[in-house]
Amino acid sequence: MSSLIDYKNISIFLSGHSVLNIDHLAVPAHQCTLLTGKNGSGKTTLLKIMSGLLKPNSCTVHYQGLDLPWKQAKPYIQKDIIYLHQQPYLFDASVADNIAYGLYRAGESKSAAHHKVMQALDWANLTHLAHRSAKQLSGGEKQRVAVTRARILSPRLLLLDEPTASMDSDAKQQTCLLLQRLKSEGVSIMLSSHETHIIEHIADRHLHLENGSLKHIKQATTSGKVTSLNTIKNTP
Ligand SMILES: Nc1ncnc2c1ncn2[C@@H]1O[C@H](COP(=O)(O)OP(=O)(O)OP(=O)(O)O)[C@@H](O)[C@H]1O
Ligand SMILES: [Mg+2]
Repeated sequence: MSSLIDYKNISIFLSGHSVLNIDHLAVPAHQCTLLTGKNGSGKTTLLKIMSGLLKPNSCTVHYQGLDLPWKQAKPYIQKDIIYLHQQPYLFDASVADNIAYGLYRAGESKSAAHHKVMQALDWANLTHLAHRSAKQLSGGEKQRVAVTRARILSPRLLLLDEPTASMDSDAKQQTCLLLQRLKSEGVSIMLSSHETHIIEHIADRHLHLENGSLKHIKQATTSGKVTSLNTIKNTP
């Protein structure tokens, strides 16, 4: 199984306490990784380091044939990896304008951006919300708009921090459907969640964070079949 990106020797101290101490984290290409761990175990901290938003005390990144210290890898990481906050920040503007924002920043013309935004809204079954004020959306709608806004920037890896928290079951299902679609389009996904039962069916592997390090709970084999940790251990 090929890695999209590898992080080695990740360590971070916050307020004098060691929060993470991870030897190696390989993110497989085109797969979905579920990250669990108790409150305060360091899930958000890890996702922010991975996306270039939080500077670790140490970390080496292997990406696109280069081995770089985190600080030097940061521009490459930020180009291809998007982190989605649990409560996504949307501007006080229409849904369509929120989705177009990244395209304008990337230099797209207004008409090209408009076309892409309408396609993206259609992809997410959110066309009916195009002209609604983003501030007035429900939590579930905001999360789906944020996923759509991320997708339009063509990330190679999407990191989501508890994307289904505080949603009703219908909103959870719709968010999972979008994530499943993204995965089938080849986007690699890693998401933290306390709701293993909701995410498990789209996750190819499951990592658990405890005492600052990662344990494999489930991992896809080369055939794509998911195996439990015991099976992996017993496989030569
Ligand atoms: N800016 C900060 N300064 C000091 N300590 C911090 C900071 N951010 C996080 N921490 C601490 O680091 C630890 C990991 O926090 P983190 O938010 O990553 O946990 P989490 O697994 O995401 O928790 P949750 O499930 O509640 O979201 C916690 O003990 C937290 O108090
Ligand atoms: Mg968190």
